[in-house]
Amino acid sequence: MSSNDAPQTSPVARPKTTGLHIGDAAAGVAKKDPIIVADGVTRHFGGMTAVDVAHLEVPRGAITALIGPNGAGKTTLFNLLTGFDQPNTGTWSFEGRSLANVPAHRVARRGLVRTFQLTKALGLMTVMDNMKLGQTGQRGERFWSSLIPALWKEQDQAIEERALELLERFKLDTKKDDFAASLSGGQRKLLEMARALMTVPTLVMLDEPMAGVNPALTESLLEHILDLKDEGMTVLFVEHDMHMVQHIADWVVVMAEGRIVAEGPPADVMKDKAVIDAYLGAHQDVDLGVVTGRIQVVRTEDAPTLSAEDITAAGQAEAEEEDPR
Ligand SMILES: Nc1ncnc2c1ncn2[C@@H]1O[C@H](COP(=O)(O)OP(=O)(O)O)[C@@H](O)[C@H]1O
Ligand SMILES: [Mg+2]
Repeated sequence: MSSNDAPQTSPVARPKTTGLHIGDAAAGVAKKDPIIVADGVTRHFGGMTAVDVAHLEVPRGAITALIGPNGAGKTTLFNLLTGFDQPNTGTWSFEGRSLANVPAHRVARRGLVRTFQLTKALGLMTVMDNMKLGQTGQRGERFWSSLIPALWKEQDQAIEERALELLERFKLDTKKDDFAASLSGGQRKLLEMARALMTVPTLVMLDEPMAGVNPALTESLLEHILDLKDEGMTVLFVEHDMHMVQHIADWVVVMAEGRIVAEGPPADVMKDKAVIDAYLGAHQDVDLGVVTGRIQVVRTEDAPTLSAEDITAAGQAEAEEEDPR
């Protein structure tokens, strides 16, 4: 930072987007302007049902958090919605058009991009080349402009400029010529998010964007996600950190055992009995301290509620147990 730079000011809290749903907030509630609509979507693995979503609408122009205990089916649902996996039953659409049998790369071209819980950056390519790979629908791919080298060159330059701009935003610009394999786990997650933005998507789906990201970077990552909304994008993200969810999400969808069990604004969802049940599962008859370790449940007689720490701790405890698939 040069001495001329303005001093860093703490970020101003940005307004939540409200009025997203129609009627009472509940699982499957209709949205005023849904960007994704899913109906009867199921996915079975052998005898087990990983996803069983009766109805889900994702509100446009807002940040929606998808939360739920480990194994709830969040990643599988992401895979289904983005064409990386196909459901056994159901219909689902993006911007009013069905996505059935649309492969992932064509889903991305329509403006729906996602990142992965376990990053997919290509280690033996440089950071810059990974970014360029994120670009689809390039002008140079089109017949006429490909006949005019000047246009092609101009476009190649534009791609590189956008890549550099995004790398600077994610503080990866000094690594642009390094192999992606040399990045830390957190930096690879940032690279993946930056790469997803190369296409200027309409809907960005982030699967645990914070997992493995150095705490020093999390604040700016939060700001980046809020910026996406300011730029007019819709965000759907999976996250265990309830502080983050409360801070940036306009809407929260809760999954458990493949189903949507609750929906609502962050503060309301935390008080929902179905959410408490989802996080404590079948263990409510057992001493909670023994079963869940770090989870401390705060219950009052008529208003049971989970604190952000409870849910975050539950998610982290599970994440630590998780196989690195
Ligand atoms: N490819 C697969 N084959 C078999 N079982 C799977 C597969 N993918 C996910 N599952 C199972 O589906 C359930 C939901 O998994 P997942 O969607 O990864 O949950 P979450 O992301 O909420 O932690 C889990 O029980 C998981 O073991
Ligand atoms: Mg997952």
